Amino acid sequence: MVKKKTCIFISGKGSNLKNLIYHSRDNSFPIKVSLVICNNRRAYGIAYAKKYKIPYILINTKLNNYENKILFNLKKYKISFICLAGYMKIISEKIIKNFKGKIINIHPSLLPKFKGLNTFARILKNNESKTGCTVHYVSEKLDSGNMIIQKKFFIGSKDNEKDLKFKTQKLEYRAFPEAIIKIFRNY
Ligand code: GRF
Repeated sequence: MVKKKTCIFISGKGSNLKNLIYHSRDNSFPIKVSLVICNNRRAYGIAYAKKYKIPYILINTKLNNYENKILFNLKKYKISFICLAGYMKIISEKIIKNFKGKIINIHPSLLPKFKGLNTFARILKNNESKTGCTVHYVSEKLDSGNMIIQKKFFIGSKDNEKDLKFKTQKLEYRAFPEAIIKIFRNY
């Protein structure tokens, strides 16, 4: 099987990046993590790129031409698939057009509920009985592309934001790889 050369976009901790690197070392997993793009030079996730000798590019989103730098590197590394894993910037239309149907994102709620930021606080405030995570295709509209996989759990009566984050991320580490396998199963 020829693995898809994949770029993971991150901004922070990078625990999903670490998990995808771990899975991609399996021969039967459809992707190879070939590039990491990060918009935050203090992101802990960069350590995983270094540790596993994966090329990484730091992007300064304050510069006008940063989108071109992203596109240039995606081409340079022959990237054909993109995973957004905690990337805290909106992906531009230009990139979406160049990679139509080839960009996926993981979001910490049961979309279409709780799009955007501060999900856990809003979920608790709304007295939801369950929550979870969603892997979906990226479209021009924020957190609105077609859903690939969703995983849920019931919220405990004493759960706080930290508990929700912990439980959600535990599910994310299963959902992201499963979504990727699902996408490429029929290729
Ligand atoms: C994840 O929980 C994901 O749902 C959200 O950002 C978080 C990133 O976490 N989009 P990490 O950087 O992968 O640890």
